[in-house]
Amino acid sequence: MRPIVIAGNWKMNLDLGETRTLLNGILQGVASARKESTHVIVCPPFTSLSLASEILRGSAIRLGAQNMSHHDNGAFTGEISWGMLKAVGCRYVIIGHSERRQFYGETDKLISLKMKKALDHDLIPIFCVGETLEQRERGETETVITNQIRGGLEGVSTGEAARMILAYEPVWAIGTGKTATPQQAQDVHKVIRSLLADQFDSTLAASIPIQYGGSVKPENASDLLACDDIDGALVGGACLKAESFLGIVASANR
Ligand code: PGA
Repeated sequence: MRPIVIAGNWKMNLDLGETRTLLNGILQGVASARKESTHVIVCPPFTSLSLASEILRGSAIRLGAQNMSHHDNGAFTGEISWGMLKAVGCRYVIIGHSERRQFYGETDKLISLKMKKALDHDLIPIFCVGETLEQRERGETETVITNQIRGGLEGVSTGEAARMILAYEPVWAIGTGKTATPQQAQDVHKVIRSLLADQFDSTLAASIPIQYGGSVKPENASDLLACDDIDGALVGGACLKAESFLGIVASANR
């Protein structure tokens, strides 16, 4: 049985004081909101990881980062390595978020190098894919997702792929308040699962959690999470308040 995975992507938000307030709020409510089979992850900005790791020690909340270099170390100004993330207590890392693709020119090739690097070093990647509005309107959703999955997972073995999480995030639904309908999301999740079965095998495809992301909030989470192939949520805006993040955690029911 796949777990439900709810991850909060804080993006470029919250300083140290705000980090403390949000995490304390989440810790206070998580025991009553979370079911045993639900995994809860927070992905603060790099500057908050160390503090978050301290606050979350011994709790049920897991720590992730929002990005990672494909290099091990060296002269790469502004970059953060897998080793630094692990040393600070991260178990997860978001790879290939659409904002990295759109605003920082990340290509499928670069994303595949980051995926390999994370998997080689036992970090669990949350691998993001998703189409833009123009691509959807042109009927290209399936082609775009196929290319992103083939490209981003190039060189990843079946054994490695078994440890990843996937996130389907239609770009037109991110931060716009426009959520994909449960049916629209379920349709793409099903396509993703069959692509994984083609590229790896059907046992692996059935075991990988696929999150939906894009304007998830407490009001729409239960309907999305009730779909057969939707195994969690990658949450942006609504993860910045303990109440709404916990509301989403509480809607997960498997
Ligand atoms: P959103 O962001 O929930 O604010 O739409 C989701 C994401 O980008 O991961």
